[in-house]
Amino acid sequence: MKIFIDTAITEEIKEAADLGIISGVTTNPSLMAKSGRTLNDVITEILGLVEGPISAEVEEADWESMYKQAHEIVEMTHNNPNITIKLPMTPDGVRTCTMLSKEGIKTNVTLIFSVSQAILAMEAGATFISPFMGRVDDFLQSEIAPGARLIKDINRVKEQYGYSSQIIAASIRNKGHVEQAALAGADIATIPFKVIKQMYEHELTTRGLKIFADASKK
Ligand code: E4P
Repeated sequence: MKIFIDTAITEEIKEAADLGIISGVTTNPSLMAKSGRTLNDVITEILGLVEGPISAEVEEADWESMYKQAHEIVEMTHNNPNITIKLPMTPDGVRTCTMLSKEGIKTNVTLIFSVSQAILAMEAGATFISPFMGRVDDFLQSEIAPGARLIKDINRVKEQYGYSSQIIAASIRNKGHVEQAALAGADIATIPFKVIKQMYEHELTTRGLKIFADASKK
């Protein structure tokens, strides 16, 4: 499973990219606000930090405006083949996805919470679809790991019908989500920087390091 980083903070992207494990970046309006920068201000810089798909989310609601903003982003980034237009799971978002896919522009349909929505996005030719594990788990708290089941079910439909869209497990809250996403067949997990750091940690690794350090002193 590939790892994308889910942030618009360039310091985090650079630090994670230096580890050599990052294959792409996802951003959204909330992450932009958190970074204190605007999409136009930061997107070219991010494209220079990671060689892989970089998702930039449109902020418009109707398809004409989404399509126009998508082309503005593509032009601003000089037709960089890694630029990926992130679109919401709405009729206008799906319509825009169909149009951009036909033009060979990479797309990522976001805010996916059901197999039905995933089918619509895959039929529209989305390069990536983003089911949200964390938010599904928050919403369906009485069920066992509904976010993981969502990824698994979407993957089953994807394989059964040979859809080419890649599944990005999004809204990752902890390393358990990362492991569940991998086991459920996600192609990619887009992970916040703090969770990437958690992935390195294991109590037995810490203890093992201490044992080796103590031994080497003797
Ligand atoms: C990524 O593409 C999504 O926008 C992001 O993972 C959403 O995460 P959140 O549910 O923590 O806002």
